[in-house]
Amino acid sequence: MAEIDTLCGWGAQDKVDYFVANSELIVPNRKEQLDFLVDLLPWQWDQPIRVLDLGAGYGAVAEAVLHRFYEATVTCVDGSEAMMRHARTRLAKYGDQVELVLRDLAEPDWRRGIGGPFHAVLSAIALHHLTDERKQQLCHEVFALLLPGGLFVNDDVVEVPAFFQEHFALLVDRAIQEQIKMRTGVTRSIEEIRAERAAHLRPTGHSHIAPLSTQLEWWRAAGFIAVDCYWKFLNLAIFGGVKPPDDASPASVLG
Ligand SMILES: C[S@@+](CC[C@H](N)C(=O)[O-])C[C@H]1O[C@@H](n2cnc3c(N)ncnc32)[C@H](O)[C@@H]1O
Repeated sequence: MAEIDTLCGWGAQDKVDYFVANSELIVPNRKEQLDFLVDLLPWQWDQPIRVLDLGAGYGAVAEAVLHRFYEATVTCVDGSEAMMRHARTRLAKYGDQVELVLRDLAEPDWRRGIGGPFHAVLSAIALHHLTDERKQQLCHEVFALLLPGGLFVNDDVVEVPAFFQEHFALLVDRAIQEQIKMRTGVTRSIEEIRAERAAHLRPTGHSHIAPLSTQLEWWRAAGFIAVDCYWKFLNLAIFGGVKPPDDASPASVLG
């Protein structure tokens, strides 16, 4: 039996290089998503918050956090050496505010020596690579790593109702087309965009894209409160929850 690639192809240098060079073009509303992930963090910008970034890739989320929260430290976990090489270069200017940890999130022992507790655990476009079983376990693992009042927020691809699948796929590609035009001035056809993505990103078939409503239930089952989808565009959603604060008052989250 063929071995399952738990990284879903992200170990390959060419796939990684393509994503790193093009993520702001091929992920709809990429900048809005990264900005909003950081907007969700309810702390003062000068607080030395500790953040964990799961499936951190080349460090885009970490960089967005550190740009705003200049005293923060971010632990970036990813399973791809190729991605980590990019992260090392990109985040070098933050010195010891960043720690890069090579781990496979498909394995429950990824938490070994990971430190914490954390104020926030964030993830972008990564957790859909884990099986549904692992995603549920991860909710519990992250809960244990968070401070009371800490956030676990996932920015990820979610399952679209079958009725809309084809139409949403077209709308996603039109959004990408518009984004490319705005950023580069070039109008590319939908066919070109699809062909390029298929050639460079080579879907491996090992993704496990789950419905949003199911994932919100997993967050609740792990003990999170304030569980909701905070932002959504077609098949992309930013959702999560809060570990209950000790005294259950909003002020204790911010203290
Ligand atoms: C689409 S990239 C997103 C990277 C980054 N979060 C961003 O938004 O730019 C998906 C990332 O998930 C990581 N990943 C996928 N499966 C993983 C696993 N089982 N363990 C650790 N990382 C994984 C890949 O290596 C890759 O860096």
